[in-house]
Amino acid sequence: MAIQRPKGTQDHLPEGSPKLSLDTRASAFVHVQDVARRVLERAGARFIATPLFEEAELVRRGVGGSTDIVRKEMFTVFYFGDHGGYILRPEGTASIVRAYLQNGLKQLPAPLKLWTHGPMFRAENVQKGRLRQFHQVDYEVLGSTDPLVDAEAIRLMVEVVQALGLRGVRVKLGSIGDPADRDAYNAYLRTLFGAHVDRLSDDSKDRLERNPMRILDSKSAGDQALIGELGVRPMLDFLGDEARANFEAVQAYLSAWNVDFDIDPSIVRGLDYYRRTAWELHHEGVGAKSALGGGGRYDGLAEQLGGAAVPGIGWAFGIERLLLAMEAEGVAVPAAPGPELYVVALDEAYVPQAAAVAMTARQWARSEFAYRAQKPGNAFRDGERRGARLVALIGSDEAAQGTLSIKDLASGVQTNLPTADLAAFLHEQGLHDQGRQPQAALSPTAQENA
Ligand code: HAM
Repeated sequence: MAIQRPKGTQDHLPEGSPKLSLDTRASAFVHVQDVARRVLERAGARFIATPLFEEAELVRRGVGGSTDIVRKEMFTVFYFGDHGGYILRPEGTASIVRAYLQNGLKQLPAPLKLWTHGPMFRAENVQKGRLRQFHQVDYEVLGSTDPLVDAEAIRLMVEVVQALGLRGVRVKLGSIGDPADRDAYNAYLRTLFGAHVDRLSDDSKDRLERNPMRILDSKSAGDQALIGELGVRPMLDFLGDEARANFEAVQAYLSAWNVDFDIDPSIVRGLDYYRRTAWELHHEGVGAKSALGGGGRYDGLAEQLGGAAVPGIGWAFGIERLLLAMEAEGVAVPAAPGPELYVVALDEAYVPQAAAVAMTARQWARSEFAYRAQKPGNAFRDGERRGARLVALIGSDEAAQGTLSIKDLASGVQTNLPTADLAAFLHEQGLHDQGRQPQAALSPTAQENA
């Protein structure tokens, strides 16, 4: 058998591939990125890209030593002669805060809105919607503690799912409090679960020591049964005055904007850097346990990484999970478009000419050519299979006269025109870039070449 892709990874495939579903369609994958880009850039977010591998210490300190991500799911990177101190990034937030600190982005006007998308790596147990390489769209805002920033971040997340055409998304909103509130809650949990250590899973025994809140997030059925029996009080009961005021302000903004949300007192999140506002978006198509996306405030993270204090908040979607939700709802995604112009020579002698016409026409429209001569009937069928809009033929008459015979595959209308008039013709057909995107100016040389 030929070599297969590693478990927990996915290929994103071109249109027309066999057995294509929405979550493996590359055009749907790109569509999600494009929609997110439009929503986020309109809100002033600037694109940032950081490396796929980072110092392991960044993740240990950023994501936190008590999380499953750091304890069990890190992909370590080794290369010849190396100390092995790098890991493939499991998420984007710690990297973006590192980049902010390292590159002096504090000098840009605050709050600074950043966004990115790209692959993340976690060595998890693979199941539906849970991959080892997955992709996130990530939005971060640095330099403000204003609850208006929190509310706007949540609203933007909702705008992305709406722009994708998803309807069945629920926002679950909670708060993790300030560090002192969290300490008080952890002390309460330590006493509560401490009396039932023997019933806890091994992982949760360990969590009891390191970070009892993690027990609430446990995937063990036994732990969850115990949590139910004990009637554990939620974190929200332990919020101090400031965290509570912040939480209420966020809710007031969301309500004023008609952004629906449910308060979920059990929100814990799987990363240690959070404080105050924290939330998740859920969808039935992804399963009850898995979130479509999540986020929260992380005001102490920059200091934890050894930098100056910078408050921050952000969120990430899993692109594959968005696609599963879209598939479940039957959301239509535009297919990757075929060529607007497909140029075919009727004789091998004219193939270079067909290539030249197609390559020139790329200034204005998506243009391809056939690498081999074809008969007219085959040329039209071939064009259809490729999703072409117009098929241009070059035979001996066209070659001698400097013309093209063009057929519109949708209407069947055929036209013969001088090659020099192609740009104007594409314009008439609404296929010329200049007609579609007024800002894309055409250079005079391009016009001369037409
Ligand atoms: P997270 O909740 O760990 O948060 O991940 C965010 C989203 O990434 C999840 O809701 C899910 O859609 C997707 N995801 C996570 N793990 C997997 C997986 N194994 N397979 C498929 N999808 C997955 C973060 O990563 C934070 N950095 C979000 C954030 C940004 N907080 C503040 N700023």
